[in-house]
Amino acid sequence: MLSISRRILTATTTNHHAVARCMSSIPATMKAAVVRETGDAHALKLETDYPTPSLQPGQVIVKNQYAGINFIDTYHRKGLYPRDLPFIGGQEGGGIVAALSDEAKAQGIQLGDKVAYSVFGSYAQYTAVPASKLLPVPEGVGLDVATSCVVQGLTAHYLTTSAHANLIKEGEWCLIHGVGGGTCQWAAQMAKLRGFKVIGTCSRGKSDIAKTLGCDELIVLDEVEGASYEDYESVDIVARVMEVTDGKGCKAVIDGIGKSTVDISINSLAHRGIFISFGNASGAVPAFPVLRLIGKSAYVTRPKLLDYTVDRAELVSRADEIFGWLKEGKLNVSVDRCFPLEEAAEGHLYLEAGKSKGKVLYRID
Ligand SMILES: NC(=O)c1ccc[n+]([C@@H]2O[C@H](COP(=O)([O-])OP(=O)(O)OC[C@H]3O[C@@H](n4cnc5c(N)ncnc54)[C@H](OP(=O)(O)O)[C@@H]3O)[C@@H](O)[C@H]2O)c1
Repeated sequence: MLSISRRILTATTTNHHAVARCMSSIPATMKAAVVRETGDAHALKLETDYPTPSLQPGQVIVKNQYAGINFIDTYHRKGLYPRDLPFIGGQEGGGIVAALSDEAKAQGIQLGDKVAYSVFGSYAQYTAVPASKLLPVPEGVGLDVATSCVVQGLTAHYLTTSAHANLIKEGEWCLIHGVGGGTCQWAAQMAKLRGFKVIGTCSRGKSDIAKTLGCDELIVLDEVEGASYEDYESVDIVARVMEVTDGKGCKAVIDGIGKSTVDISINSLAHRGIFISFGNASGAVPAFPVLRLIGKSAYVTRPKLLDYTVDRAELVSRADEIFGWLKEGKLNVSVDRCFPLEEAAEGHLYLEAGKSKGKVLYRID
């Protein structure tokens, strides 16, 4: 079998800048969960002879141990967010540096380093990652936890640190929906670390996890019949929010649920509060007239992680703060389920059913 080290050596004779260092021979083909046609969860299929990526200048090859499963992966798989076909699923991984370019070496990266990252194609044994995107994983933080941190942890960090545009201050109220889910378990804890008072909503089945997050008030909702996610009509959330906040409402509302919660979120705002609509777990937020915001002179933002990790400095400073909190025991991350990559479809089905009580990962051998 042609090994990647041989392929790289061939490339090196024509490109003197891309001299590769390799831990051991990397096979020319690998296991990967691939989408060749968009569709339901079964459109994601395990292949055992997918070409291994070749190392380019500035990159490393990571031998993945874990890949994170995120809602956005299901949107790519379904074609809701279109991508060129075929593609390897996933955009969050963690593993060991197995080959590196000169440029990566010059940045201090070494073979065998434990790293986490977010780039396309993580549902595979090997992923080519630009050195600028690598997050070195410190001792004392497990690769599963570090992998979990990349998308959901960094998202929760920017949501509670930056996306609110400082319209909420220490000691003021923040409403966070679905704190039993992945991103918002982190967000609730980080909002507390920032000194905000937190009201969380969660479904009854996830209240055990939600109770450990330190929310000042937890609104526990019944589940939608036959499903495991919240029925947002089972409790009058706005009335409860107003009661808890002495009629003032919340200076920030963090909402990844979308369609089911948009009205609750806007109606729970305080004067000059901000509605941070960052996701659509229940469906896309329908269009609404801007005039709707006039009652409270409210703000609305629809942010995304890429715009809050614009360069290496911003990426690393957010990750460093998160890894620091993890090491100091100030932040707990629950890895809910870890599916073998061979059960690729099951991982997506589990997430889409709203069953996750924390991070859902693939383990890659
Ligand atoms: N903009 C960004 O930067 C960014 C970054 C990461 C994620 N996101 C988006 O944020 C959303 C949440 O992501 P996540 O990673 O936190 O997901 P997650 O871990 O699966 O949590 C989402 C939670 O939503 C709740 N939910 C309510 N209605 C649902 C429904 N109809 N179907 C499924 N779940 C439902 C579930 O909690 P309950 O059982 O408690 O209701 C579920 O645990 C997704 O739309 C994702 O794409 C955006």
